[in-house]
Amino acid sequence: MQTNPIKRANRSARSSGAVGRFPLCYRALRSLMSPCTTAEILDFGAGPAAAHTKTLMEDGYRATAYDFGDNVTSEIDADALSRSYEVVVASNVLNVQEPELLPVTLNQLYDAVKPAGCLVWNYPASPRYGGLTTKEMLQRVMSMGFISASLVGGTRNAPVYLCWKF
Ligand SMILES: C[S@@+](CC[C@H](N)C(=O)[O-])C[C@H]1O[C@@H](n2cnc3c(N)ncnc32)[C@H](O)[C@@H]1O
Repeated sequence: MQTNPIKRANRSARSSGAVGRFPLCYRALRSLMSPCTTAEILDFGAGPAAAHTKTLMEDGYRATAYDFGDNVTSEIDADALSRSYEVVVASNVLNVQEPELLPVTLNQLYDAVKPAGCLVWNYPASPRYGGLTTKEMLQRVMSMGFISASLVGGTRNAPVYLCWKF
């Protein structure tokens, strides 16, 4: 059993089975945003090969891939958090946060969103390393200072939310 929270989150990119061909969070993002938009997207927790960031870019979106620990590969911009973005997507990321990592991650996500920008995130039922319910995670995300949350996609077991920053 892997105990380091960063290594465990890293490993989720390979072992959780959550990283499908078209994860629901990116699908919801695409349904909300035209590829013609000039908005910059941060793919937070993109995974080591940043496969979905690359697909977004190939389809015309402006996107930057960010990850941490052992998942920082040549496709990842390790300095991405020194800037902020109109749209931040966190696909299959909040469910792989150990309790001690979650506050840091939520701060990073909130700070990465520009004023009047938004965060698109999902919360699959499995795995959930922190053990929070969907309602509890939604409350944690909103407690950062977002002003609204809408359910924009996914499924009952893996909802996708859109949260706006003032
Ligand atoms: C299950 S993978 C999801 C990959 C991709 N977003 C997808 O949906 O297919 C979770 C990824 O989030 C990354 N991650 C988790 N917490 C993170 C954090 N606080 N900072 C950066 N990356 C993080 C992990 O390293 C891992 O690569």
